Amino acid sequence: MTVAAAKGGVGKTTLAYELAYLLQAPLVDLDWDRGGATRQWGYRHEDRMRAPLLDALERGGVPKPVRGVRKPDLVPSHPDLADNQPAPEDMADALTKWAGEWGGDYVVIDTHPGGVPSTFAAMSVAAVVVVPTILATKELEALEGMLDELPDYPLLIAPNKVPPAPPAAQVTKLTRLVQHAGVKVAPVVSNYTWLPRRQIRVALTSYDPEPARIQPLASELRALTEAVRTYGR
Ligand SMILES: Nc1ncnc2c1ncn2[C@@H]1O[C@H](COP(=O)(O)OP(=O)(O)OP(=O)(O)O)[C@@H](O)[C@H]1O
Ligand SMILES: [Mg+2]
Repeated sequence: MTVAAAKGGVGKTTLAYELAYLLQAPLVDLDWDRGGATRQWGYRHEDRMRAPLLDALERGGVPKPVRGVRKPDLVPSHPDLADNQPAPEDMADALTKWAGEWGGDYVVIDTHPGGVPSTFAAMSVAAVVVVPTILATKELEALEGMLDELPDYPLLIAPNKVPPAPPAAQVTKLTRLVQHAGVKVAPVVSNYTWLPRRQIRVALTSYDPEPARIQPLASELRALTEAVRTYGR
């Protein structure tokens, strides 16, 4: 399963992290920018000798995900991926091979925003492509472009950061877009203004018992995960 979007900052990493945790799937981080899943997980490539992702891509091996407590297993990204992206076919083959070797039901892939080779590769091998979408003018325009360009992918639109009373015009626009493109829409994730930005943290859905503040968000994330399971079947 791939989480991708034409626009940055829409919640790809946030949703990918939680989906991977809930699906008990390895999270492959294909976003080389700081502020991605790798940092959030607490992995610092500076402190490591090896770059599992790059090593596997270069040598044709299978990366071993790092494990954490209350976090998804992770294949961390590396800044050098920016300039060392394999051809999309090679990346797609590698991802398929890794998924086979890992053997679980799901692999979750977090991507760099926009149309870069590694993102196309990740989308091409995914049974579900989750597209987080914010109900705002620019983001909906970016979604429209993506739907025009990529009608053949199994897209699942995931409205994210949805305010309590979303602007009617944006809701209408989203409804029109998805109907026109014939793509599915997942249950929404609301806007939680307290959601911490880019700090190292456990999965939001890993609390037991669940703090009152987190409970509504966790339950929306579980509903999203169910939609992914259903759609991916
Ligand atoms: N449902 C939400 N409610 C409130 N804030 C959110 C929500 N989802 C994500 N955010 C916040 O929005 C910001 C961007 O989220 P995130 O990093 O997941 O987006 P992204 O699409 O991965 O960004 P990038 O394009 O930089 O990779 C983060 O600060 C995150 O905490
Ligand atoms: Mg991200």
